[in-house]
Amino acid sequence: MNHASTHQTTDITQVLGENASRVEAMLDRLLPDGGGPEKPLLDAMRYACLNGGKRLRPYLTVATARLFGVSEEQAFRAAAAVEMLHCYSLVHDDLPAMDDDELRRGRPTCHIAFDEATAILAGDALLTLAFDILADPATHDDAAVRIELVRGLTEAAGAHGMVAGQMIDLAVEHRQVDVATVERLQALKTGALITYSAEAGAILGEADPDARESILAYGRDVGFAFQIVDDLLDEEGDEAAMGKAVGKDAAAGKATLVGVLGKDAARQKADRLAERAVESLEAFGDSAGALRDVARFVVTRRT
Ligand code: IPE
Ligand code: IPE
Ligand code: MG
Ligand code: MG
Ligand code: MG
Repeated sequence: MNHASTHQTTDITQVLGENASRVEAMLDRLLPDGGGPEKPLLDAMRYACLNGGKRLRPYLTVATARLFGVSEEQAFRAAAAVEMLHCYSLVHDDLPAMDDDELRRGRPTCHIAFDEATAILAGDALLTLAFDILADPATHDDAAVRIELVRGLTEAAGAHGMVAGQMIDLAVEHRQVDVATVERLQALKTGALITYSAEAGAILGEADPDARESILAYGRDVGFAFQIVDDLLDEEGDEAAMGKAVGKDAAAGKATLVGVLGKDAARQKADRLAERAVESLEAFGDSAGALRDVARFVVTRRT
């Protein structure tokens, strides 16, 4: 890593932190709060969302939305919807029936802090609320745009997207897999939502088809690089810094590119993908600086 990229990563860390505060303010506003017998559900939803995290996906939404002149209110609403969906996916991913993890974002996972039933229901409700936010006229005044936002998220998150990826992730545990299988698994489980995170900004901004295609190409490469680095950090990362358990993927027999190609080749692949992501933004010139910095951050991050 040269000096320039170290410097860049420091800057983007600060930018991400500032963005995270604004995302959290929006999440706080949009998440239900209250008493009554359903209080544990509402508490668990807030616990799962208002607990740190890099807020990378919502940053992608906001940075892309800015590229197309979207209002901050609309951008942060869509960004919060994306983050809620991500938080739901983490709550369910950590359940005993899935990865069985007890630490997330430096705190007990949702099912440890509450109980399994509450964690499942909190995930369900976060998933549902994400679509409610996108469908709300406050997110965009044109119903056609709102439908496109909703449709895009259903595709990214559902049975042809993240949930399919999670199914494959479990189905191929302890099995020999080839690179193509891992690539498909990762494109679904992580890539689809990350790609959508960027795409949502372009949908909100009613970007033209060429611009939209460039953003999609960027998002796919960033998403794939992101999961490769997540898998590398499982081997090389620090539990305290990451706020989640490390060293579990190999023991669980998870199919990762690190497992199939080895650490060095996986690292090289992630770096190449980040470079290609940056190249996809060429047509946007200087205005896409924020998105370029994210692509570089994804492969240099330690958390
Ligand atoms: C972790 O995502 C789950 C994956 C898809 C690899 P992040 O690394 O973005 O987790 P947070 O949101 O920062 O906690
Ligand atoms: C999680 O992937 C992907 C989703 C939540 C959709 P991982 O299982 O690798 O994520 P971590 O390592 O637990 O954060
Ligand atoms: Mg998992
Ligand atoms: Mg996991
Ligand atoms: Mg992981």
